[in-house]
Amino acid sequence: MVICSCNSLTHKDVESAVAHGATRPSEIYASKRCKAQCGNCVPGVVCMLKEVRMRQRQAAETATHACLPVVVQAEALSA
Ligand code: FES
Repeated sequence: MVICSCNSLTHKDVESAVAHGATRPSEIYASKRCKAQCGNCVPGVVCMLKEVRMRQRQAAETATHACLPVVVQAEALSA
């Protein structure tokens, strides 16, 4: 889905930029070697940025919790 019609920026471009460390809208535009022109897309880009970063945090938390049963199991064995 195209997020920015001025620059043909898609939601996948935003996700890719965030995955590569973009934390600000300007960094997302810079990843495609462009910048906001009319500005109509900026609120949408900001919203997508927050959403993708939240999903990344949740995935990281899930990965952290995924090893919890192993730790508990190891503690049970040593007791
Ligand atoms: S729609 Fe993105 S700068 Fe115009």
